[in-house]
Amino acid sequence: MTMFIPDISNRTGPKFMALADALTEAIESNELAINMKLPPQRILSYRLGVTVGTVTRAYQELELRGLIEPKVGSGTYVKDRQSEQQTFYHPVTSQEGIDLAICRPLLLSQQQHLSTILQDLSHEPTAQKAVLDYYSAEGLHGHNKTLQQWLSDRLNVDIDNRRLIWTYGGQHSLAIILQSLSRPKETILVEGLCYAEFINACQQAERKLVPVQLDDDGIIPEDLELHCKRHKPRLLYLTPAIQNPTGTQINDSRRLKIIEICRRYNVLIIEDDVLYCPPSHRKTPLVAIAPDITIYVGSFSKYFAGGLRVGYLIMPLTLKDTLQRTLRANCMHISPLMIDLVCRWLTNGAMEAVDKEIALELSARHRLFNQYFPPQNNAVIPGFNCWIPLPEPLTGYSFSKLLRNKGIHVREAEMFAVGRYPVPAAIRISLTGPASRSQLKTGLIIIKEQIALVKQR
Ligand SMILES: Cc1ncc(COP(=O)(O)O)c(C=O)c1O
Repeated sequence: MTMFIPDISNRTGPKFMALADALTEAIESNELAINMKLPPQRILSYRLGVTVGTVTRAYQELELRGLIEPKVGSGTYVKDRQSEQQTFYHPVTSQEGIDLAICRPLLLSQQQHLSTILQDLSHEPTAQKAVLDYYSAEGLHGHNKTLQQWLSDRLNVDIDNRRLIWTYGGQHSLAIILQSLSRPKETILVEGLCYAEFINACQQAERKLVPVQLDDDGIIPEDLELHCKRHKPRLLYLTPAIQNPTGTQINDSRRLKIIEICRRYNVLIIEDDVLYCPPSHRKTPLVAIAPDITIYVGSFSKYFAGGLRVGYLIMPLTLKDTLQRTLRANCMHISPLMIDLVCRWLTNGAMEAVDKEIALELSARHRLFNQYFPPQNNAVIPGFNCWIPLPEPLTGYSFSKLLRNKGIHVREAEMFAVGRYPVPAAIRISLTGPASRSQLKTGLIIIKEQIALVKQR
């Protein structure tokens, strides 16, 4: 193998730096590839006509730049920076196998959008200064205006700027609402099968959850009324656009009935609209119909990236002070840097583009899902999650355990059941958990096979 000898004859400045720069260029252009051995120092000093000390200093400089590494007794090598990055950015705990449990947006063009706006930001000193400073919990004018405009277009209603606050995502919004508008031991009405982390938040805060019966169109108004009479709750938590975990949607007439009951019994509705709902199935949210009794929880976690931790609340103006005081006590204010990134994506078309990309990929994944599990219920919205009923004698819990032993991770119905609400035999799988469609397919095949095996017995 020929030895790589750099040319430093035309370089100015100290010799060791000229040599370090020449080798850096060779590494970055891949002329000196990953894991290639650098020339032994004595040979390089002889070939370049410099002292060994010069070569040693150059090699030290490259080590400082993170480009090479000496291996004891073997020489000096070009470092594999890629794998080092992968180790650095590896989750501290991650599970092996196929993840059909986590409900996340797939990373499609988001990385490209991140790179673009970070470059933009690097040329904008006013923005840099603003996002590094403290500010009042009211936020920055431009950010608030951007969110207001975007929401007004999206929800097709005029929203007063003062009714908005930024939060660190849907979960944070829910915690702020709980802390502001309820007290320990107080009753909160929820869907019988309910977003598990809301159950968790209420348990932590010692709130009493009372399940309202569900059917294919969401909560049953008659049961809601019964519980309103019996428990006199202040809050009702709902996922009207796309129910978590079952994926159903509350239809128009039922929405009106629910609002009417809540008005009559003085109940505030927490409308959780965090889950991704495909554009074809989006409906007018409750907050647009009943803004006086609805607190709307929105987030960019499922529409762009979960790691952002940016969301927002739309609330009746009368609740603003209370909710904002809690936010201040909680975290002062949301990181303006993160809000700035989101606002740039809202205005430069990135959010919209990603929304369309997610919708496309999701519909391809639903086609795949339907090959193995043909649709049985038209009320189900094709979102990230799918609900799979199981044959007897399986339970969600036992089947999820069985799948885990085969390296497939899913969520069992038991995780979502509130109190003594009857637990159906079912699992929830997320179609966007696996990074690739082929991984999803493998997972679906295994689930289908395992169900068939039980049926044969
Ligand atoms: C119904 C529902 N609400 C809220 C959240 C939390 O959202 P965020 O990631 O924005 O905190 C989730 C997350 O899965 C969810 O499914």
